[in-house]
Amino acid sequence: MAKKIRASVPAKVILFGEHFVVYGKRALATAINRRLAVAVSSREKAGYHVKIENIPTFGIELDLDRKKGDKKAYPYTDFGTATKAIAYVRESIEYLEQTYGIGSEGVELEIKSAIPLSAGLGSSAATCVATIAALKEYFGVSGDLDAIRDDAHSVEKKVQGAASPVDTAISTYGGYVSVENGKVTRLHLAELDLIVGCVGSIPLSICQDTKKASEMRLKTKKIVAEVKTRKETFTRIFDSILNASDEITVQAIRAMEHTDFVKLGALMNINHGLLDAIGVVPRRLSELVKMSQELGALGAKVTGAGGLDELGGVGSVVVLPGEPVERLKTAMEIAGALVMDVKTGDAGLRIETGF
Ligand code: PMV
Repeated sequence: MAKKIRASVPAKVILFGEHFVVYGKRALATAINRRLAVAVSSREKAGYHVKIENIPTFGIELDLDRKKGDKKAYPYTDFGTATKAIAYVRESIEYLEQTYGIGSEGVELEIKSAIPLSAGLGSSAATCVATIAALKEYFGVSGDLDAIRDDAHSVEKKVQGAASPVDTAISTYGGYVSVENGKVTRLHLAELDLIVGCVGSIPLSICQDTKKASEMRLKTKKIVAEVKTRKETFTRIFDSILNASDEITVQAIRAMEHTDFVKLGALMNINHGLLDAIGVVPRRLSELVKMSQELGALGAKVTGAGGLDELGGVGSVVVLPGEPVERLKTAMEIAGALVMDVKTGDAGLRIETGF
């Protein structure tokens, strides 16, 4: 097979309702114009060769050839955070082999990404959706977008143990989705200009400790588990917080429909307060949000799972800027954040052939 296929997908930002969505409450998420692309082509040697470049934080190249007698189909060495991306690629290949019987007669996979890792921007789901879509197209496996989304969600759950459908839905469909009780609904809402800031650094003590490093790779899982414990301790208080979050998402969708950005920003600030209340806002993310609010942002909040101080406070914030934007961005950069201007509502999965 001499053809070349490229699948590209967007990153996601959860605008409202993260964590509370785990308990069935409404969340609103959007695709942003930061994309991850997987190119698939043939190579002479059998097996899969994977090259990952450009992901903010690392570049890596490795062979996923089977070794004779190996129980695990694709053994790989531990490359710190890189294994996180590799785990999703490897699991996607194994899943496609088992589910659709795709071959491994010499495949080159090249992944290029502008989505930072472990930042709550959906890099894992993006890797799964793009890898699965590209390989299905390459091997001529028929199916629609919904099937790709389901495949990717199965892989994400297998690697992480649990995953809500938000990220894979956004990577597949793009635009906006709301999720309630696990049900995904695609929404048509206007584009927004936002600022995303990713901050934090993984402490050396974690990088050097294999057990802690693998916990770090499952950061979302750990944070979700901590929230669950807190919820069990403060059941009735959590009930109120959950209902408040649900109402915030409903009002936010309405504010977007009416292009009421002042209200939208105020709702982001309230949502951030609830995330702080459930303990997922580490100091560095808290500072970024406070600073944005002080410098005139209409709204600012943690997005995604948030972070934990003991895991270096790694995570992201999303800001609906007022004016002036440049001063705010510079201040965020001085605070050590990777700052990105993003547009919401980006297109979903795109497949290109013959380039
Ligand atoms: O930070 P992320 O992209 O892993 O987002 C997690 C969002 C949660 O609501 C905390 C968990 C989930 O599965 O929805």
